[in-house]
Amino acid sequence: MSDNCQCSIIGTGSYMPARVLTNHDLEKLVETSDEWITTRTGIKERRIAAPDETTSDMASEAARRALHTAGIKPEEVDLIIVATVTPDMFFPSTACFVQKKIGATNAVGFDISAACSGFLYALQTARHFLNGGPRKTALVIGAEKLSSLINWTDRNTCVLFGDGAGAAVIRWDDQPDAPGRVISSFMGTDGNLADLLKVPGGGTALPITAENVHLRPNTIHMEGRETFKHAVTRMCQASEKALKEAGLTAQDVKLVIPHQANARIISAIAERLGVPEERTFINLDKYGNTSAATIPVCLDEANRSGRIQRGDILLLVAFGGGFTWASSVIRW
Ligand code: ACO
Repeated sequence: MSDNCQCSIIGTGSYMPARVLTNHDLEKLVETSDEWITTRTGIKERRIAAPDETTSDMASEAARRALHTAGIKPEEVDLIIVATVTPDMFFPSTACFVQKKIGATNAVGFDISAACSGFLYALQTARHFLNGGPRKTALVIGAEKLSSLINWTDRNTCVLFGDGAGAAVIRWDDQPDAPGRVISSFMGTDGNLADLLKVPGGGTALPITAENVHLRPNTIHMEGRETFKHAVTRMCQASEKALKEAGLTAQDVKLVIPHQANARIISAIAERLGVPEERTFINLDKYGNTSAATIPVCLDEANRSGRIQRGDILLLVAFGGGFTWASSVIRW
């Protein structure tokens, strides 16, 4: 999607819960091995939120850190968008809880559900929102407590996911060369493939009842092999589209920040785009797949560690349940 939105990322933050769950810990829960998980996914460990720690708690901490980096007070925030598939509750939205917790008294807020593509969907939504109206500063957050949706007896899925939150402060400005400028974006959806990756129960289609609760319909169900193939194809396509819109090629990209589902997916994308693997950002070994949180957490880690410098071209690209996919090119 090409547009004239004039927005830049002016601050990043992230929060990961303290508890570490290693592959060796999982060996005690299901029939699996550190060797299988490492070679098939690249994941070594993941973070698990405390039982009383909510998605909005993690989102709020990531948001505070992003505001601090940006030098923005909570009252200056006009809009909060939280991308999540693990909201605190059906309603109010998680954004409402974040607004209260960080004291962003002047902000409006709502949630976006686009699974692992959620952060890039939210970024794109915020840009259009800021461009069209009086609101000029947004907090865009990806936050998940996926441990609450995991069937801990299903080895196909329980080894893949983790909890965490990342945030970015987005600001409208009319300086085309402002640092952190989002220069192009692309989004896609294919609802025909919804059954391949879903949490089928707990909504109106399949309410949880005393009769079905033992089947654990409120946990993640995934056709891993099919999802893998679509993830590679769509993330490559999305990358090429956003680069083309920006008038750039893969050779111009200093760092690819891909959704962190599987190291083999990231290698396949890098190879197809012709980007050397050292120009891809990976932290899934530490955190696993945190769905909407992966990209903002990576962006914050890349920013804080000095891995990215002002002027660098970044390519952010994601794929998730829906299926949904999205990309953004940023001049840092
Ligand atoms: N430990 C040991 N063996 C396992 C495990 C495990 N944890 N999990 C599966 N296996 C077994 C399977 O039972 C199967 O055994 P079988 O051949 O006897 O039937 C074998 O390993 C191979 O299983 P596959 O599913 O074919 O393994 P694959 O190499 O495809 O890896 C994986 C599975 C890691 C899930 C991979 O398919 C993948 O990463 N898929 C994409 C995930 C993704 O991108 N998700 C999108 C975003 S998530 C979101 O939106 C919330």
